[in-house]
Amino acid sequence: MINNKILKVFLIVCLFQSLEAQDSGQKIFFEKCTACHTIGEGKRVGPDLANVHQRRDADWLVKFILSSQSLINSGDSIAAAVFEENNKVIMPDQPLSESELKSVIEYISTNSPDPNNPNIKTPKQIFNPTVVTQADIERGKKLFEGTVEFENGGVPCVVCHTVQLPGVFDGGTLAKDLSMAFTRLSPAGVDGIIRNPPFPAMVNSFADKPLTDQEVKDLLAFLYYSDDWNLYQNFSGNGDIIFLAVSIFSLNIVFLFFLWKWRKVKKYSVNPDR
Ligand code: HEC
Ligand code: HEC
Repeated sequence: MINNKILKVFLIVCLFQSLEAQDSGQKIFFEKCTACHTIGEGKRVGPDLANVHQRRDADWLVKFILSSQSLINSGDSIAAAVFEENNKVIMPDQPLSESELKSVIEYISTNSPDPNNPNIKTPKQIFNPTVVTQADIERGKKLFEGTVEFENGGVPCVVCHTVQLPGVFDGGTLAKDLSMAFTRLSPAGVDGIIRNPPFPAMVNSFADKPLTDQEVKDLLAFLYYSDDWNLYQNFSGNGDIIFLAVSIFSLNIVFLFFLWKWRKVKKYSVNPDR
């Protein structure tokens, strides 16, 4: 019953959001730029784009994104230097419309760490698996299940997602099982999705109800724990099966060996004269 209702809401939400998300800067960034760029998490193929809007002027950015090679060939010294610094890897031309360019640049600027406001942090700065505490995991579990509400009122994850862990509520099946989201997506990937969901259903649940840094940190701790637990479970599970198979196989070999020996013995004893 509940699932049916949620499904309807979800479908309607999807419809609206897919229309709206068409040229969102985030969608463009995820689809066309993340392969080579991060915002504040270091260099990939291309340079980290954190605060690039402060380093370069707007006009230059538009020209560079549309066709970096044209800009370099026109004799632009900054573009040539960036090309040089990045081992002369060619950034492919990005044939974006004017409004798409505007929204992707806006996305980069609003998601850059603010040098004047060190309280705004990037994913790497927020989550560090080596300092996760049991309390973080517990809080994350409660937020995930909705037994503790999100400060800004977002929908609990469990409505759409499930995590396979003993003692955790069964979740919805609308969206992917998150038991091993960490292995699949990396911490920064999960962080990016939680904070700036590229999926319509999630955008609608969290767009104007952003999670706080603490909430993101706690959820990450919980998903990290779940990932670990399931990894171990799978590993030892498979281990048992392999152990069993090897045991049966080697027992059979031993058995066959004895069988063969026994036949020989029998043969000799039947024909003692030979
Ligand atoms: C295939 C990899 C690749 C993709 C995809 C890509 N870039 Fe780049 N980008 C680069 C490289 C490499 C550079 C460094 C300049 C060079 O080598 O030409 C660069 C440089 C830049 C710069 C200049 C950075 C600076 O410090 O001045 C901007 C801005 C930029 N890219 C934006 C984008 C945007 C926006 C997208 C997506 C629409 C995108 N890039 C997609 C590889 C890529
Ligand atoms: C209204 C439903 C809804 C809610 C609430 C929701 N999600 Fe999602 N989520 C989705 C959908 C739909 C997708 C994309 C498709 C899929 O995973 O099936 C998704 C995808 C994801 C993914 C990427 C999964 C992958 O492997 O690609 C992560 C991680 C995620 N959500 C985390 C969360 C977390 C954490 C919360 C709670 C803070 C949450 N979601 C709340 C619907 C939801």
